Amino acid sequence: MAKEKFTGVKGMNDMLPQDAPIWQYVQKTCVDVLSSYGYQEIRTPILENTRVFTRGVGEVTDIVEKEMYSFTDSMNGDQLTLRPECTSAVVRAVNEHNLLYGTTQRLWYCGPMFRHERPQRGRYRQFHQLGAEALGMAGPDIDAEIIMMLARMWKALGVGPVKLEMNTLGAQEERQKHREALIAYFEAHKDQLDEDALRRLYTNPLRILDTKNPDMQGLVDAAPKLLDYLGEESRAFLSRLEELVSSAGIEYSINPRLVRGLDYYNHTVFEWITDKLGAQGTICGGGRYDPLVEMLGGRPAPGVGFAMGMERVIELMREVGQVPKASQTDVYVLHHGGESQAKAMLLAETMRDRGIRVVTHPGEASIKSQMKKADASGAEFAVFATEDELAQGTVGIKALRAHEHAPFAEQTLVATAEAADKVAEALAALHR
Ligand code: HAM
Repeated sequence: MAKEKFTGVKGMNDMLPQDAPIWQYVQKTCVDVLSSYGYQEIRTPILENTRVFTRGVGEVTDIVEKEMYSFTDSMNGDQLTLRPECTSAVVRAVNEHNLLYGTTQRLWYCGPMFRHERPQRGRYRQFHQLGAEALGMAGPDIDAEIIMMLARMWKALGVGPVKLEMNTLGAQEERQKHREALIAYFEAHKDQLDEDALRRLYTNPLRILDTKNPDMQGLVDAAPKLLDYLGEESRAFLSRLEELVSSAGIEYSINPRLVRGLDYYNHTVFEWITDKLGAQGTICGGGRYDPLVEMLGGRPAPGVGFAMGMERVIELMREVGQVPKASQTDVYVLHHGGESQAKAMLLAETMRDRGIRVVTHPGEASIKSQMKKADASGAEFAVFATEDELAQGTVGIKALRAHEHAPFAEQTLVATAEAADKVAEALAALHR
């Protein structure tokens, strides 16, 4: 019988061990920044009741109309969906657990999201977002703080210049007026609308502005602008945000065409874009979503947040050569099997007590072949717990990488009891 070959699901990637250091580095770097602004982690399930997203993200969005992995739970008939984004899920959890009762919340999350899109570079069906939501705070100071926090993350990650585009979607009544004007305008030019636009004309005309159809660009460019429908308050909100962002020295442009693909936004929306990743250059998107908490059954409370695409950020770091070299192993312990293996394993334990990352050679092999493994492991030091050395109460330590003035550049014998301390000192010297 022919052996069956198994492959992963299209558009869903394995993260292989050689990629683990960069994934961990990106998450840690961002979380350090988030913590410095008072954000705490929240984890919600990957499955939610479908209503959370149809209500939260909006019925007439690409995500809900054609990208969700939804199914009926065969055990009880529940309608469930693999989360396509996390803002709605976080708000659902915050409401369910009353986390906004008389207080505010600053929350972050990181994990897989699922959208049934056409896979291509930077666009996957399972992808990962690192995001944050600030809930219960109404002012543009919080929007500005989020922008400042993101600018700090890009700097810490070393992704190079990324362009910030901002826009405002105004307040609900203003949007309503603009919407009516848009419908009237597009009705008058119905013959120029494509199928998608015709379908959205009465359900979500704002999204027509987002069209990628080149034949409709002229029409869309001349369409009524929301900016012209904004009242005093919305204008003041945007100008305060601009003022705070500028005074932090962050460059931005206002893009009146930026409407975002999710329906819960009002006032501020923003995206960070790079020109180094081709068509999928948006590494991060977000904005204010004051209606959402109430839409998902909570007492009205404002919210604002963002999510970055981890795959895109990592791809960008690779493009600009910012991949940190991180070895996973500090020390490789070699031995002669038998009694020396037992001692090697105990010595490894004393090193781990000091936080050193140690691999002890598994099984038995010649020292030459163990050395090859030691070298390939990426370890900084080899420790020889071989019979001769152990018999004298010593082990040998040798640096495996060429560093200037590296300790143990030559193989050196040290007392077995002191070996863990010596290695710890040597590692500290390397990392100084
Ligand atoms: P979004 O713009 O749909 O916003 O997604 C945020 C980011 O996730 C995008 O800018 C992109 O980097 C990444 N992303 C989206 N789809 C894919 C995909 N198929 N493959 C790879 N990366 C992708 C949201 O999801 C909102 N929840 C953001 C937010 C949080 N707004 C307020 N709070």
